Amino acid sequence: MVNLSLLDRSETNSFYQVFSQIMQEGYDNFSPKLIQHFLNKDYSINVVNLWIERNFRRVMLAKDEGVIVGFLVGDYTYGGVGFISWVGVIPAYRNRGIGRLLYQNYERFAQEKKAHLIELFTYEKKKHFYEQLGFYEIGRREEGFYGHQNIIMNKKIGEWNDANLQLSNIY
Ligand SMILES: CC(C)(COP(=O)(O)OP(=O)(O)OC[C@H]1O[C@@H](n2cnc3c(N)ncnc32)[C@H](O)[C@@H]1OP(=O)(O)O)[C@@H](O)C(=O)NCCC(=O)NCCS
Repeated sequence: MVNLSLLDRSETNSFYQVFSQIMQEGYDNFSPKLIQHFLNKDYSINVVNLWIERNFRRVMLAKDEGVIVGFLVGDYTYGGVGFISWVGVIPAYRNRGIGRLLYQNYERFAQEKKAHLIELFTYEKKKHFYEQLGFYEIGRREEGFYGHQNIIMNKKIGEWNDANLQLSNIY
């Protein structure tokens, strides 16, 4: 039985191991050099700890019997837009709806924050996964971040309203 829970400071090492495992697969054919850069620099364990200590990122975990099997890293919304940066489910647990569950949880959170839009970047192989969740492509960069193709996808989840200004940026 898979449950979702927010990443706690005491679990960052376990999360980092799962994140590393999925990162090693390469996501969008990341080169070994880029993977090492991500794991040792941009997304090192120190960075993950900072995310949690300072509320820079919201990390939702999917756990089976307390063992982490998936995650979704998103922000706390800004200007009514929620941004999802990383989603991963370990290979043995794929195609069981865990990715969808993680996404639906983030969408509910973003709605609570009065967000009207969710954005993410993906690549060709995963585009259909997000289309099934209601995302549509709004454009693409052929050589975007780190020289990779960024398919920019959005999902409208509400209406922007100036009355929500106070709420949208409070962590
Ligand atoms: C993308 C990723 C997170 C999806 O996670 P997941 O848990 O497999 O996602 P889901 O199970 O919700 O959906 C995946 C597929 O399983 C299907 N599915 C969902 N529940 C199912 C079930 N109970 N039985 C059979 N199939 C099911 C979905 O319809 C979907 O079909 P698709 O192959 O046409 O997309 C996962 O493949 C992954 O970690 N990939 C590597 C990292 C990556 O590329 N992340 C995305 C970066 S943008």
